[in-house]
Amino acid sequence: MLGSWRAIGLVLLSFLVVLLLRPQQFMMSVPNSNLRLLSDPFLQLPQETSVRVVWFTEFAGTEHFVRYGEGLEERAIARSTQLTRIREDQNSKIERIPNTPIQRDIWRHEAIVEGLSRRVPYQAISVGEKGEEITSDRFTLAPLPQLGTPLKILLTSDHQLMPMTPTNLQKVVETVGRVDAVFLAGDLVNIPDRASEWFDDNRGGAFFPSLQGRATYKLNQTVYRGGELIQHAPLYTAIGNHEVMGKYSHEKELNAQFDRPLPRTVAQRLYQEAAQQINPQNDSKIKAEWIKNHSFNTDTYEELFTLPESPSGGEKYYAVTFGDIRLVVLFATNIWRSPTLDTTKMSRYREPDRLLDRPEEWGYGQHIFEPIAKGSPQYQWLETELNSPEFQQAKYKMVMFHHPPHSLGDNIVPAYTNPVPVIQSTEGKMQSVRYEYPLNKDYLIRDIEPLFDEAGVQLVYFGHSHLWNRFTNEQGIHFLESSNVGNTYGAYWGNKQRFVPEGYREIYAATGDPNGLEPVVPTLDPLKDENAESLPYIASNEISVFTILETKTGTVSSYRFDTRKPQSPVVKFDEFQLK
Ligand SMILES: [Fe+2]
Repeated sequence: MLGSWRAIGLVLLSFLVVLLLRPQQFMMSVPNSNLRLLSDPFLQLPQETSVRVVWFTEFAGTEHFVRYGEGLEERAIARSTQLTRIREDQNSKIERIPNTPIQRDIWRHEAIVEGLSRRVPYQAISVGEKGEEITSDRFTLAPLPQLGTPLKILLTSDHQLMPMTPTNLQKVVETVGRVDAVFLAGDLVNIPDRASEWFDDNRGGAFFPSLQGRATYKLNQTVYRGGELIQHAPLYTAIGNHEVMGKYSHEKELNAQFDRPLPRTVAQRLYQEAAQQINPQNDSKIKAEWIKNHSFNTDTYEELFTLPESPSGGEKYYAVTFGDIRLVVLFATNIWRSPTLDTTKMSRYREPDRLLDRPEEWGYGQHIFEPIAKGSPQYQWLETELNSPEFQQAKYKMVMFHHPPHSLGDNIVPAYTNPVPVIQSTEGKMQSVRYEYPLNKDYLIRDIEPLFDEAGVQLVYFGHSHLWNRFTNEQGIHFLESSNVGNTYGAYWGNKQRFVPEGYREIYAATGDPNGLEPVVPTLDPLKDENAESLPYIASNEISVFTILETKTGTVSSYRFDTRKPQSPVVKFDEFQLK
């Protein structure tokens, strides 16, 4: 009897073992079970009853879709495209480093979720070749907020995988919780065609992980995760100089390609000189592609994001109504070059002497990527937009772009205008090429700010100098930069002087705002200098800053966090109202 019980027990035990082993065997029998989503999903282009969900994979897969609704009962099929210019090279921070730039196979999936009237849960699903379903966590999505909805908007910029970016974004969520949208004034990464900077740079602070709470960046013995922000909130971006790639090459390092944009007019001239060989059939597509590849492009940026569009600028400059805010986004940025006067270097003020006989290799100074001067298509569109009922009737009138119109930072010098070459020759031989930037032709000051004054703009938000400072002009427009996430270019105030070239025709301001406004001292808790005087800025590689716009009250609040003291509280140090 005991023997038969033992036999039954053994049978039951072996059955249990089989049961326990089954899931594992099943898992192991699925090939490619290490497939994963390259990013979490994030939200783009909400409209009255819809929003787009975007995510990325490193496999083409067979099907990609979003489940949404209270019980995830609805389904929206994604449209998939492969990114065309995204690469890795010898400077990528990844496991297997290639010797030359190579294409990285990345697919982008975008599902339009329709029929929405409120916020509901969702998840993104990608199906692999063998039928494996890779599912994201659950997040929430919503259509455009209606007028009057109280909103919290994060104003941020210049992330560029800077050491304080994940900390900064984590502190946003810890301090104010989820936001309703993220407005980012450009410079998302350093090299836009380098895939790992967006997705999986091995230092742990790539663009998407930082804005999705999936970073793993160690700073002062603390690991920061960034903030779970854009899975729930749409991202609106402006193009900074770091969204623009220069001359395309199969061989040159990506950093070198980034550093060498040519003005379109120069590429057009080079094209004309060799049009017979390049394009004997005079195909307009070949011509446009050649000129783009020999000047600059924002292809990867445009492929990654789905933004509102303008008729003349596409998604490069646009306007959108988001709740009570009318946000105008401009394409105002130029190539950044060192200010050095070293005769062997390409700089914002001169060409290196060794390249004088090779104009096709010149830098052409800090040339502007998209014209914005009076009469340009962007200017004309802006003028129309600022006079439109959508803009004029909005409760909050805001403009965002990358280049500073008012700043204590370094990158506001020289003026924002087309560089004027000054060529010195003796006996017909070129001796030097330098660039002047006429102060009275600063397009942002001469042409654009007067349009803002007339239209009643309340807030102009920008980046580029990696500091926090703000100004108010005579008409009451607030100008704010809140890009202090690291690699600050300093604040030139008091005794601290910017480098400005001597012996040039133009005399640039070494301190203060070159365009004449006084910085506003933070209203709540400014930092102090060594004499206990309040500082009208934060330009620090240790203290990080973020800014929140709350539409219920029209309050713009700025917060700082000292990364040297991980246990210290976040401090609200400045607040002002949009009227
Ligand atoms: Fe920048």
